[in-house]
Amino acid sequence: MKSRILSNEKIASGIYKLVFEWKGGIPSPGQFVMVDCKDKTFLKRPISVCSADDKSMTIVYQVKGEGTKNLSEMKKGDTIEVTGPHGHGFELYEDKNVLIVGGGIGIPPLLYLVKKIKAKNSYIALGFKSEIFLVEEFKNLGEVIVTTEDGSFGKKGMVTQVIEDIIDKIDIIYGCGPKPMLKILQDISLKNNIPCQISVEERMACGIGACLVCACKVKKDGGFEYKRVCKDGPVFWAEEVEF
Ligand SMILES: Cc1cc2nc3c(=O)[nH]c(=O)nc-3n(C[C@H](O)[C@H](O)[C@H](O)COP(=O)(O)OP(=O)(O)OC[C@H]3O[C@@H](n4cnc5c(N)ncnc54)[C@H](O)[C@@H]3O)c2cc1C
Ligand code: FES
Repeated sequence: MKSRILSNEKIASGIYKLVFEWKGGIPSPGQFVMVDCKDKTFLKRPISVCSADDKSMTIVYQVKGEGTKNLSEMKKGDTIEVTGPHGHGFELYEDKNVLIVGGGIGIPPLLYLVKKIKAKNSYIALGFKSEIFLVEEFKNLGEVIVTTEDGSFGKKGMVTQVIEDIIDKIDIIYGCGPKPMLKILQDISLKNNIPCQISVEERMACGIGACLVCACKVKKDGGFEYKRVCKDGPVFWAEEVEF
């Protein structure tokens, strides 16, 4: 679908918020879109939904390589080609105490999750290396704890260090961020017997389950099998994932 860009602004160093017209239906939290980043980037790039309604969609992305650099140069009024929403998002349970844990560029899809979930209480732990972003948007949606690795904002340290204190209040954990963080969430979930859903990343080509580029290992009968992150995920139960 061709969409008109409504805004594309820098919100932190190397991090951009892109809003574009969207008439492709309301996505579920955790789903992603495939974005054509133009020039020599033949394949579309997967980016998670940060918020959406029946008129527009917001995505937040970090400039990593050529595709996201091209995206950062697009302007209001330009047209982009976007497909989706793709993938299997988070399963939402009402009236539970939820813990939402985000790391770095894994944080944007969790904003859409917190907005959509009808939780009893939401505890939101956001971890950054240094510069923070989207923190204001999470306030009023739950109790927010922020960590930075260099101590420039909030508590100094890793986000997974601050959640052990509240874990006995929690019915379900949701996480998105770097693999080491997700592995720690898996350990915390198993140790405390709390269900946990995590959104995992793999490089993608088709984004619709046809090419098997995005295969990830999941546990099965004492061994493992491969599932497709784009179609079976990106959200999986943490206990399933083989790190
Ligand atoms: C389901 C899903 C949701 C995503 N949501 C977001 C999001 O909301 N915001 C965001 O900024 N990024 C997100 N990503 C990552 C994003 O797709 C990549 O950063 C992007 O494709 C890089 O494209 P590029 O052309 O700029 O870089 P490339 O030139 O393709 O790669 C540059 C560098 O980025 C690394 N990279 C590329 N793709 C990935 C990937 N999938 N995972 C980890 N490292 C990668 C490469 O190893 C390389 O070092 C998501 C990825 C997936 C699979
Ligand atoms: S990207 Fe092609 S199967 Fe997932």
